[in-house]
Amino acid sequence: MKNIIFIKKRIQSYNKKINISADKSLSIRWVLLASQAEGKCRAYNLLMSEDVIAALESLKKLGIKVTIYKNYCEIFGNGIGGFKYKKNLVINAENSGTLGRLILGLLIRSPHKIKLIGDKSLSKRDFSRITNPLEKFGAKFYYKIKNKLPLSILGSKKTNGINYFEDKGSAQVKSSIMFAALNASGTTSIKAKKSRNHSELLFKYLKVPIKINKTKKYDFIDIKKPKKIKAFNYKVPGDISSAAFFMVLTTLANNSKLLIRNVNINPSRTGVIKILKKMGAKIKLKKLRNYKGEQISDILIKSSNNLKAINCPSELNTSAIDEFLIIFLVAAKAKGISYFKDLSELNKKESPRLNWGAKILNMMGVKTKLTKSSIKIYGNPNLKIKKLITIKNYLKDHRVFMMSTIAALIFGGEWKIHDQDSINTSFPSFLKILKNLNKY
Ligand code: S3P
Repeated sequence: MKNIIFIKKRIQSYNKKINISADKSLSIRWVLLASQAEGKCRAYNLLMSEDVIAALESLKKLGIKVTIYKNYCEIFGNGIGGFKYKKNLVINAENSGTLGRLILGLLIRSPHKIKLIGDKSLSKRDFSRITNPLEKFGAKFYYKIKNKLPLSILGSKKTNGINYFEDKGSAQVKSSIMFAALNASGTTSIKAKKSRNHSELLFKYLKVPIKINKTKKYDFIDIKKPKKIKAFNYKVPGDISSAAFFMVLTTLANNSKLLIRNVNINPSRTGVIKILKKMGAKIKLKKLRNYKGEQISDILIKSSNNLKAINCPSELNTSAIDEFLIIFLVAAKAKGISYFKDLSELNKKESPRLNWGAKILNMMGVKTKLTKSSIKIYGNPNLKIKKLITIKNYLKDHRVFMMSTIAALIFGGEWKIHDQDSINTSFPSFLKILKNLNKY
C-alpha cells in the first residue's frame, strides 16, 4: 500500500452534505458492555476501525461470540463476569488507550493471569492511572517496565467496591473504574473531574444502579453491582472528533458550506464547537434529537474570514481534548495571539500532541511559545506556505496525520505526509470524504 500522501493543491470552495464515521468512544463501550449483557446484542453503524476491531478480537479471545453482518454487528453477551478462556491468554489493544484501559476494568476477577499488549504508541503510555484504582479492587499487576505495557493482570476472588478520586479529567480512568464496579460487591463511589459521560449514560440506559450528583467541577458517581444487564441494541451516531476536522476545514476554506449529518453532540464533547465559535467560526446545530440519553444533531458550518485569537478557558479542555491539534490550525490563521493552557494531558495521547502541534505549526512558519502544559500561537491571517513540509515519525498518531492533511489543503505549500494508514484506527474514510468534497 502507498503509505505516503503528497498534497500540493489547496482545496477549492465546496457546498456539500456528508456523513462522518461513527463515534469511537461509543463503539468501544458498546462492544465491551454487550459482552457483559445476557444474550444477543446488535449495533448498527458500529465504527469498523482498527481500535474497534481490536476490541471485538479481544472479546473473541475471552470466549464471546461476535458476528459481523453487512449492516450490523452482533455480540452474544455471556453475562457479567462471564468470560471464558484458557491460561496464558494474550490480549492486544493495539493503538487503543480506551480499549486497553476499559477492558482491564472488566478483568478484575480473572482467575488466571491475562497479558495485555499494545503497539509502539500504546506501549509508551502510562497505565498506572488505571492499575492504581484497579489494585484497590484487589487485582494484581505485573510489569516488565513499570506502569507500561506489556502488563499482566491477575484478578481477585473477592472484589469490593472502592472510593476513588479521579483528578485528571480522564474518561478512560473513570470508565475503567465504572466497568470494574460491575464486578464488585457493595458500592463504588467515584469523585470525578468532569470528562465525557458516555459510560454513565449507557449505565443509566442499561438500568445499572447508578446515582450521579453534579457540582461545577466534579461528578460524584455511586454504582452498585447490577444483578444482570439485559441484551440491548444500539445505533452509533457520528463522532464529533472526526467531524471536527471537517468543521475546521470548512471554517478555514474560501466560501464553502458543509452540513455534517448525525453527529453526537453530547455536551461533554462539544468543547470544539464552543472554542471555534468564540474564535469567530460560523457553526449552527440543526435537527437536535435525543437517542438513549445522547444528544444528536446535524452541524452546519460556513467559511469565516474573520477569525480572532482565543485565550482558551481551561474548563473547556476535557470536552475538546481530542480536538486541540485541529483547533491549533484555526489559531494559526486567527488575528492575534491564542493561548491554550493546563494541557499536560495532551502530551499523554497517541503521540505527545502538544509538542507535535507546536512542531507542525513551526514547520508552517507559525511562531509558538511552548511549555510542558501550554502553547501560545501567534496567528497570521495571511499565512501562505511556499515550501516542502515532511511529516513523519509521529508514532502513527491518526490525529497528527489528519491535522497535517487539513493544513496542507488550507495553507498550501507541498506536503509529504507519511503513514497514511494511521487513519484506520479512528476514521478510515477520512481521505475518501475529503476527495468527494473536491479534487485536490
Ligand atoms: C476517551 C477519553 C479520552 C480521549 C480518548 C477517548 C474515551 O482520553 O482522549 O480519545 O473514550 O473515554 P482520556 O480519558 O485519557 O482523557
